[in-house]
Amino acid sequence: MLYNEKAPILFNEEAGRGIWIMTLDAPEIAATALPGQFVHVRIPGMEGHILRRPFGVYAAFPEEGTIDIMYQVLGFGTDHMTHLEPGERVEAIGPVGRGWQPPAGCKKALLVAGGVGSAPIHPLVGQLKAQGAEVTAILGAQTAEALVARQRFAEALGCEPLCSTDDGTFGRAGFCTPLVQEALDEAAASGQPFDYVACCGPEPLMKLVASMAEGAGVFCEVSLERRMACGVGACLSCVVDTVNGKKRACVDGPVFPSKEVVW
Ligand SMILES: Cc1cc2nc3c(=O)[nH]c(=O)nc-3n(C[C@H](O)[C@H](O)[C@H](O)COP(=O)(O)OP(=O)(O)OC[C@H]3O[C@@H](n4cnc5c(N)ncnc54)[C@H](O)[C@@H]3O)c2cc1C
Ligand code: FES
Repeated sequence: MLYNEKAPILFNEEAGRGIWIMTLDAPEIAATALPGQFVHVRIPGMEGHILRRPFGVYAAFPEEGTIDIMYQVLGFGTDHMTHLEPGERVEAIGPVGRGWQPPAGCKKALLVAGGVGSAPIHPLVGQLKAQGAEVTAILGAQTAEALVARQRFAEALGCEPLCSTDDGTFGRAGFCTPLVQEALDEAAASGQPFDYVACCGPEPLMKLVASMAEGAGVFCEVSLERRMACGVGACLSCVVDTVNGKKRACVDGPVFPSKEVVW
């Protein structure tokens, strides 16, 4: 079920350089969003730009009726969002798309997030822990300041996530992929390999993590980003090539099993 809520903004502040958190009063979406789904947002004051902008649900609080999104300022729409004040409303369609689908009975999961890819991955921690899985999370960002999700991951995990920064200002210096390979290798060597890998971030990261997971024989899902127009499956602007033909990232994804993606 899709809702279209005229959602008042409750909070809109910068959490790290160029990365903002916005809280929306959107009770129907908050009550129904599954990990990995997104909202397609029409931004007020952008009437000349008819296209909505998609953002993963970073957190949903059904009791409060609110959702958080985390957005990186990239272009006109996200820059415009930084000027919105609490009390103004955005129009949010959601929850949209196929979210994460870890295997039934998943016992040990590795979650990998690059940059704001941490937003759609974050709710998956709670889902996996609720079903009794052991969860390891790896967060990569350009700088320490850009690791804005670290605290929330630590709270959800009950321990610190493994972190890397490109400039070495926090955690392992460089890209996060060596941490991913080490985690896969250590788990396999311990006789308790991962049975699920989920990754969201820049496409080169997802491609590499997918090949590492496949090399280790572990089922992997990735959340693909495409430019989206309608966001509800009607316009075919978000097509993804898969081994099963062309699929729409907005409704057939954004989460796909990595083995289905033709990179
Ligand atoms: C399912 C989904 C979930 C997403 N979740 C998040 C999220 O949680 N947080 C977040 O910060 N961003 C997320 N994005 C990306 C976000 O939608 C875009 O960054 C945003 O739409 C850019 O709008 P803009 O008007 O600022 O940029 P524009 O002015 O339209 O474009 C600025 C630049 O960004 C690039 N760009 C714009 N949209 C996309 C896109 N969809 N994919 C790749 N490149 C793009 C353009 O090519 C251009 O170079 C998500 C995208 C998808 C498809
Ligand atoms: S954005 Fe229109 S079909 Fe996906």
